[in-house]
Amino acid sequence: MTRSNAEGMKSYWDEKIDWWADSSYEEKPRGPVERWMATLRRSVHARAVIALEHLEPHIQGKVVLDVGCGNGHFAKSCAELGAKHVIGTDISPAAVEIAKKLAKANGVGDRTTFLVARAGDPLPDSDIVTGFGLIDWLEREECLRFFRNIKDRIFMFSYSEQDGTFDEIVHHFYLVERLRLFGNGVRAYHHPRKTIQNRLLKAGIKDFEVVSRKEMRFGRLVHNLPATRKRTQNG
Ligand SMILES: C[S@@+](CC[C@H](N)C(=O)[O-])C[C@H]1O[C@@H](n2cnc3c(N)ncnc32)[C@H](O)[C@@H]1O
Repeated sequence: MTRSNAEGMKSYWDEKIDWWADSSYEEKPRGPVERWMATLRRSVHARAVIALEHLEPHIQGKVVLDVGCGNGHFAKSCAELGAKHVIGTDISPAAVEIAKKLAKANGVGDRTTFLVARAGDPLPDSDIVTGFGLIDWLEREECLRFFRNIKDRIFMFSYSEQDGTFDEIVHHFYLVERLRLFGNGVRAYHHPRKTIQNRLLKAGIKDFEVVSRKEMRFGRLVHNLPATRKRTQNG
């Protein structure tokens, strides 16, 4: 990502994170288009619930790093569910400030730390790394840096899969194409599964599982959690 694109991404999310999180987690969409899109965003909420179901046994007493933490919803939940400490990082300073407030308001301010950082930067130490809704915003090189960063760690992240379903195609036009045409350099992506698999392999990650569930629609989770770890590079 060039410096100006990174600045663009920062400004985009500085402005957007508050209402994006409201419409995703609080069912408070603003305006008619957003109301319609909120039906799609329910899958974001489902994604968080399913991710937490998978992660809960693994985070007890552990340090979790949530990259692209947004308003801190997920970090707060990990702290509430038994993580020793949760570090959230995000490119957007506004998101980081909102996340701090949310954690404090929910009584987990002392077990969370939020920092401004990019996904491709060297990551703080942790037992587990997560990143939800993040990969969709990373250009190829930064995505590869992120994958190399998590190579030797336990991880779970999500991505939007280019699966050709109606919802995926609508969202592709609503977000990916709209930003491509009018985003002033800010881009978002839906990826074919092969692209994610190839990037993981390129980064040296061979063992991972892709989770697909109806409630997440075209959202997918990718993880290498020990209990269910299996090789999927060919499937
Ligand atoms: C769709 S939101 C998801 C927020 C949160 N993870 C969640 O699931 O609620 C994407 C987040 O990724 C952050 N982001 C985008 N590009 C980033 C980058 N290069 N490095 C770190 N964070 C980034 C945005 O600021 C935003 O908060």
